[in-house]
Amino acid sequence: MSKYKLKCTKCNYVTPDYKTWFANNQKCPECGSNYSKVEYTEDVDELKNIIYAKQGNSFLDIYFDYLPLNNRENIVTEGEGLIPVEDCHTLTELTKRAGLKNTEVFIYRNDKNPGTGTFKDVAAAMAASVLKENGIKEYCIASTGNIATAFAYYLAKAGISLSVFIPQDALMANEAEVSVYGQRVYRVKGDYAKAKKIAAEYAAKYNILMSGGNVDPARVEAKKTMVFEWIRQMDTFPTVYIQALSGGTGPIAIDKALDDIKDLHLVEHYPRYIMVQPSNCDPMTQGWEKAKANGFPEGWETDYPILESPITAVPTLATGNPATYPIIASLVKKSKGDILNFDEAEIYDIARLVAYETGVRVGPASTIALGGFLKSLKQGLIKDNDIVLINVGEGVRRAPDFKEKLIYTTVEVDSIDDCEIFDRTKIKEQLWSKFDKYIN
Ligand SMILES: Cc1ncc(COP(=O)(O)O)c(C=O)c1O
Ligand SMILES: [Zn+2]
Repeated sequence: MSKYKLKCTKCNYVTPDYKTWFANNQKCPECGSNYSKVEYTEDVDELKNIIYAKQGNSFLDIYFDYLPLNNRENIVTEGEGLIPVEDCHTLTELTKRAGLKNTEVFIYRNDKNPGTGTFKDVAAAMAASVLKENGIKEYCIASTGNIATAFAYYLAKAGISLSVFIPQDALMANEAEVSVYGQRVYRVKGDYAKAKKIAAEYAAKYNILMSGGNVDPARVEAKKTMVFEWIRQMDTFPTVYIQALSGGTGPIAIDKALDDIKDLHLVEHYPRYIMVQPSNCDPMTQGWEKAKANGFPEGWETDYPILESPITAVPTLATGNPATYPIIASLVKKSKGDILNFDEAEIYDIARLVAYETGVRVGPASTIALGGFLKSLKQGLIKDNDIVLINVGEGVRRAPDFKEKLIYTTVEVDSIDDCEIFDRTKIKEQLWSKFDKYIN
């Protein structure tokens, strides 16, 4: 007996389990949609106790009854998903300077995930476990970077072969992290859209399962558990959730979790989603701004540009053709949130400032989310009494070339005459001065 089923979001057709879902090539056999949501037989009431008891060593362990896996023996884990939500005093202080009396800012430390150090670890651990349970030996995926690394690691752990299709400009560090586990890398001459196309052709030619992208039920189910973690860790559930946006699994998963648990009355509001794209790859932002300017006319959800081969300083966010825009933008609108971009030229200053003030070494995608927070503050999108949660999706370890660009305090010396007494507090002013425009 399977403890879960997959229900089509378009026609409500029920696929009984993953075996059948995989046999149907991860689509609804009735209408062909790839977007099904998982439902469970276990009573949701018990979840409340599970959240607060926190018994287990990974999210898979703890939330097992509400994940699409039937046998605990198939869990593939490195202890991911149990990362802290931390009070960010520096950013809270900033909201005070902006005139907000009771606003608080928290950061969600996905850089502390023990697998590969990004918020893709939970999705990859879930997928590896599901694939293992269903006897899948080979899998393929197209990725802009972090998801490739996470899947390479967790699938290797499960003994599953993986072929990863990365775009031309993907970071070498990501390529290395796939390759080192003995998984196949295909570096595609083209952008992420082309990498996805060739991956799909490869999957069809060799009859191999391919990751279902941002609405893949395994990814959504894994990420929904972050809501449970916030409930346990935070006195008040966030009223604003800020995340760097590429395809947008975050809000899809948060909404699913809150829908699932609404009868428990643990959370009385959905957060406003503020999604942030890098300025050189911001098709969703462009679509959103146009719709907003025109008062969200009929059909606005499908009106967005497709950017060919976007060149961005944040390759992990290089989705130029965002097929999920209709889903994401509708969720953002329903939440009264926003989609904005952040100037890529400023990401290094953000990373330096955050490391200086908090000791957290954030990676490039995280700087986009943090920059989006500053911009939101300036634009009045953050209100008094808001509880803001910023997803720090990755640490700097993911991007060595980005890390090198953060060097800014070096003085070349030839003799002692070139050295002078050093006062670290002077640097503080220098760092903050770059962000005056967001605060004043
Ligand atoms: C650290 C980080 N933040 C945000 C994103 C964007 O995630 P999504 O594709 O769910 O929008 C990614 C995608 O790889 C990421 O690695
Ligand atoms: Zn259907």
